[in-house]
Amino acid sequence: DPVAEFAPRLIAWQKRHGRHDLPWQQTRDAYPIWLSEIMLQQTQVTTVMPYYARFLAEFPTLADLAAAPVERVLELWAGLGYYARARNLHACAVRVMAEHGGRFPREPERIAELPGIGRSTAAAIAAFAYGVRGAILDGNVKRVLCRCFGVSGFPGAPKVEKGLWQLAESLLPHGPGEIEIYTQGIMDLGASLCSRGKPTCAICPMQEICVARREGRQEELPEARPG
Ligand code: ADE
Repeated sequence: DPVAEFAPRLIAWQKRHGRHDLPWQQTRDAYPIWLSEIMLQQTQVTTVMPYYARFLAEFPTLADLAAAPVERVLELWAGLGYYARARNLHACAVRVMAEHGGRFPREPERIAELPGIGRSTAAAIAAFAYGVRGAILDGNVKRVLCRCFGVSGFPGAPKVEKGLWQLAESLLPHGPGEIEIYTQGIMDLGASLCSRGKPTCAICPMQEICVARREGRQEELPEARPG
């Protein structure tokens, strides 16, 4: 059963081949984890690194960030792009201070109510900071799932996306301590072996269960937006 095999294969692969050395992987504090997840949206790890370090040096706590003028946050963000992220970052810090006593809530549903945090990012924060189970579904994860499970249709279409969320939920591991490594693993698999062009199927942990690999449809899945 490919659904039952997916998480154990991913976890074993992540333990052996995944990244464990990134700065935001060395903490369970939701504040730096949240900061890293916002910076990593649409931006590569190597670009994020120096910005992440500068932000934490200037704003060691969420309270420091909330108390800063938004103009200073925008200055520190300069060069990262997508500046709405910086405005939402500051607004989110102010909200968590005012409404949550300075601590991010544990439940992904409540994290997702905060500025700049969608359902997937909320689940990633809850998993990495609190070990709370929840599915993530960003562009990389959609590609992995469409290929492995042979999901056709444009993954941005509402009906296809709804099915992908249900599939993503059904794949989550149940064991203690597993959701963190699973969540990092599915992100890393989509960012590395299961890349958009020329995926590296020969060393992929899903090669025996992947529908796209079996049918030679790696380059056709996920389907493009209809023209
Ligand atoms: N992109 C978004 N979140 C990430 C993470 N935790 N690690 C690597 N890339 C990411």
